[in-house]
Amino acid sequence: MVTILDGKKTAEKRLELLKEKIEDAKLYPRLATVIVGNDPASQMYVRMKHRACEQVGIGSVGIELPAEATTRMVVDEVRRLNRDEDIDGILVQLPLPAQVDTERVIGAIRPDKDVDGYHPENMGLLFSGRPKFSSCTPTGIMTILAEYTIPIAGKRAVIAGRSIDVGRPMAALLLNADATVTICHSKTADIAEELKRADILVSAVGKAHFITAEMVKPGAVVIDVGINQLEGKLVGDVDFEAVKEIASAITPVPGGVGPMTIATLMENTFRSAQERACDRVL
Ligand code: GUN
Repeated sequence: MVTILDGKKTAEKRLELLKEKIEDAKLYPRLATVIVGNDPASQMYVRMKHRACEQVGIGSVGIELPAEATTRMVVDEVRRLNRDEDIDGILVQLPLPAQVDTERVIGAIRPDKDVDGYHPENMGLLFSGRPKFSSCTPTGIMTILAEYTIPIAGKRAVIAGRSIDVGRPMAALLLNADATVTICHSKTADIAEELKRADILVSAVGKAHFITAEMVKPGAVVIDVGINQLEGKLVGDVDFEAVKEIASAITPVPGGVGPMTIATLMENTFRSAQERACDRVL
């Protein structure tokens, strides 16, 4: 019988726990979000993040810049937030418009306020096995694996997708947890063959029903990071109905990985506030 890895339920539980921790700590963490332009999907994600802040007792500030903002304008805003002692976490919603240099913007965020974990310093720490802030989606996946006590050490983990926000940090986190890790990408010679060997399969390619039942080893744990539109419906990268007959555990879309991303962002923001409060005392 397949286990449905319920990200919605797990995230709610984590948020309740976090709310108590924030109350006990007598802290009022604050997150600043920066959004450039008016992409409806990005606006919706940012709204969801602000709503989660409210739910757990984190203050939030939303900075909105026009679609034609320059790199300089976005970097200046980030620097202002870096200096603002009342701000514990900074999140620049991606993707940025084409004229904005994303690397320069991310590189301008103070690493100790980089609750998204995208700054090269935080990426480097993660890859050297000493993570401070690690990207929210892969970290949320590690949390859901832990919640369902899915063993990782010694397992063969195969990731489809080598993006900077999911595939690469996911590989580092699984490696840090002693999995044997393979990353597949668009130039992988035989992706189906690689995926078929996975005990833990993570798909982050952004193609509806990319993972078919034939690519999944019986008993595998399948994590679906994809959010795609198919015939007016929201679906993942995985052909859920077919793959759930083969997998031992699987995340649904929606209600799987997505809610865990937001819960992790809240946890990272609280951790930043705690560490900054300690630094003020020392
Ligand atoms: N765009 C899509 N997901 C994310 C995320 O987790 N963080 C940021 N900053 N942008 C995103």
